[in-house]
Amino acid sequence: MSDMEAIKDISGVGEKIAEKLEEAGYTDLMAIAVSPSGQLADDAGVGEATAKKIIQSARASLKMGFMSGMDVLEKRKSVEYITTGSPEFDRLIGGKGVESQAITEAFGEFGSGKTQLGAQLAVNVQLPKDMGGCDGYAVWIDTENTFRPKRIMQLAEKMGLDPEEALKRVKVGRAFSSDHQMLLAEKVADLIENEGINVKIVIMDSLTGLFRAEYVGRGTLASRQQKLNSHLHTLQRLADRFNLAIFVTNQVMSRPDTFFGDPTKAIGGHILGHAATYRLYLRKSKGNKRIARLVDSPCLPDGEAVFTVSEEGIRD
Ligand code: GTP
Ligand code: MG
Repeated sequence: MSDMEAIKDISGVGEKIAEKLEEAGYTDLMAIAVSPSGQLADDAGVGEATAKKIIQSARASLKMGFMSGMDVLEKRKSVEYITTGSPEFDRLIGGKGVESQAITEAFGEFGSGKTQLGAQLAVNVQLPKDMGGCDGYAVWIDTENTFRPKRIMQLAEKMGLDPEEALKRVKVGRAFSSDHQMLLAEKVADLIENEGINVKIVIMDSLTGLFRAEYVGRGTLASRQQKLNSHLHTLQRLADRFNLAIFVTNQVMSRPDTFFGDPTKAIGGHILGHAATYRLYLRKSKGNKRIARLVDSPCLPDGEAVFTVSEEGIRD
């Protein structure tokens, strides 16, 4: 049964509601099961009581089950890695680079190297496994018009790849609104399942820009967080389902201490803090030098790595 048929099968959901849900981006049962009832009520044009019932039935028909520790161990064995290009940096995040089945978030001020790191990963994912890649494709979801094909070609050449071939292996989606961004994230599954493209990393540059622009003012903070949360959930599901890596960027102000509190607290706050498996705080140092700090990692010690961003790309 397809996801949409499964949604129509939920008691209380007819054709019409199913259509509305689909339009609003609820493309599978999980999206419904984890949605706040107020949000679903708005999106489907139903009362909150009905929304609650729909969510309950979606939850009931999902196997929201548990795995044994052995299963978790087994799943961890299939994790793949993408080198950042800097052995120092790789060491900071466990030794081999950015992981599949996980979300890695780079946050930091402008020019700290977030986009450059994304570009490097979009190239490195294409490398053979014995060179630190996954032999795969990259998806680049561009929310700020910062995707530069020439830069991809340049980095590819430095890694010994054919520049044009490398560029073909990066699928770019330009997002014009946060809803569009969320939709593009959901469409990655189609790319893999229907078009047979071996996507091994999804790069979201930036995760928060459009959300921040669209939701201004205190009153809208809660709904922004809700949407961001469900978006992150979509991304985490992609990562798990297709054993791929997610890399997201998140800009913070250059002097956040004065106005925005702790500089290491990025937009998205707590929710993002819990969803991203690896959070990297990037900051500028002298010249080409950049410093990455790992924060709040579940299994690695917090630490720092110095790397450089140059014409070559990301290096020690
Ligand atoms: P925002 O998107 O503005 O928040 O910044 P960012 O963190 O994405 O910065 P980005 O990754 O774009 O970093 C750009 C910086 O990389 C530049 O300021 C340069 O200092 C450095 N850099 C060094 N060599 C190169 C190069 O050959 N090309 C590019 N594009 N950047 C380089
Ligand atoms: Mg950038």
